[in-house]
Amino acid sequence: MAQFWVEGGTQLFGTLRVHGSKNAALPILAATLIANGPVCLLNCPRLRDVENMVSILVELGCKAQWDGDTLRVDSSSANSYTLSEPLSKELRSSIFLLGSVLGRFKKAIATYPGGCEIGNRPIDLHLKGLRRLGARIKEDGGYISCDGDDLVGTSVPLDYPSVGATENIMLLACSCIGETVIHNAAREPEIVDLQNFLIACGFRVCGAGSSTVVIEGGKSDRGCTYSIMPDRIVAGTYLTACAIAGGEITLTGAVSEHLVTVVEKLQDAGAYIRQEGSRMMIRAPHRPNELQRLETLPYPGFPTDMQPQFFALCSVASGISVLVENVFENRFRHAQELQKMGGKNSLRGTTAIVRGVPKLHGASVIAHDLRGGAALVLAALSAEGTTIIDCAERIDRGYVHLEDALKSVGAYVERKE
Ligand code: EPZ
Repeated sequence: MAQFWVEGGTQLFGTLRVHGSKNAALPILAATLIANGPVCLLNCPRLRDVENMVSILVELGCKAQWDGDTLRVDSSSANSYTLSEPLSKELRSSIFLLGSVLGRFKKAIATYPGGCEIGNRPIDLHLKGLRRLGARIKEDGGYISCDGDDLVGTSVPLDYPSVGATENIMLLACSCIGETVIHNAAREPEIVDLQNFLIACGFRVCGAGSSTVVIEGGKSDRGCTYSIMPDRIVAGTYLTACAIAGGEITLTGAVSEHLVTVVEKLQDAGAYIRQEGSRMMIRAPHRPNELQRLETLPYPGFPTDMQPQFFALCSVASGISVLVENVFENRFRHAQELQKMGGKNSLRGTTAIVRGVPKLHGASVIAHDLRGGAALVLAALSAEGTTIIDCAERIDRGYVHLEDALKSVGAYVERKE
């Protein structure tokens, strides 16, 4: 088990480059299965989740080769439609592959991805959408087996704007006959990135970023070279790290349009933020203001993936903040860890009341999940003394060497195996 050892008390100064987006790379990797030619992905983050997805593609018969943060994938040799158990269990987002494997082979067998630390993560909306397109799906004893001999495009209304379900349906719809219209689609920027990748491969898709996505079924006639969008959650995490630790940092390679609600809340907390194209500068307040109310919502609302980091910010704010988690049912596991550091908070269902304290203190804490673990690193930056964060490999799932990035702007963070 890896650990992060953080010595708190130093402010952050310098520049950080924002790496490519995990949540854009994963569905785009699934889409390489229906690309009719070799694909070259630039700015592709070498994260554990991404490498697991690549391993699954290789198990299906694809060829893949890394060169720094450039990844080349050739799916022409893919010859299997069975998603192996261990990797699929390890990687929940392997469920995105259902749509592209089914579209490619007209068959797909997957294991039920199961829940994770932030909720039971059902896939009912995925399966309902794929069935609307004509897929025959049997769920039996943890396995999902699908047949797709007569896939026909149609209208697919989503009960909830699920990111993964929207992406899965887009991927299968590419292989259907005729037009598919997804209603109440998720509007996240990662879905726009998937659309742009599909268009680069010769598919006809439009509307991503709005609630209505239209896909004209057909064939891809080429591979492509595509640059993955910057990771808006990594950018938001870096900005929040500075707001907590103090100092002034500049991000390069960020897309400020993806961070409007995050920037607004950081400004409410007293930070000064200036944006010039893909550069974002933040100057931290002396001590963050409390946030009257922060509610997570589907995009363009405040992102659930930034809730834990703001929970850490509110833990050292100058008053009482109210945070409401509307997207996942179990995404406050960092609360008890912050209490070990002297944080004062109480939970009532999906609502957290956080009473800011002037200073947290170092402690031994556990990263229960990816973003909760990142939140603990951020809290440790301004805490008195040393904080040891266990299960740091969970943080590696979404951040490329977070410890090195923070060290490069003055933080004292060491990784210990
Ligand atoms: C994606 O997960 C992201 N993961 C998550 O990021 C992100 O938090 C989430 O979208 C919301 O933005 C990837 O893109 C790989 P959802 P996803 O389907 O697709 C319920 C991170 O930290 N739901 O929009 O699983 C679900 O339980 C991760 O990078 C159903 O009920 O999110 C949840 O309560 C965490 N049935 C809500 O919808 C379904 O079939 C939102 O889930 C699907 C989802």
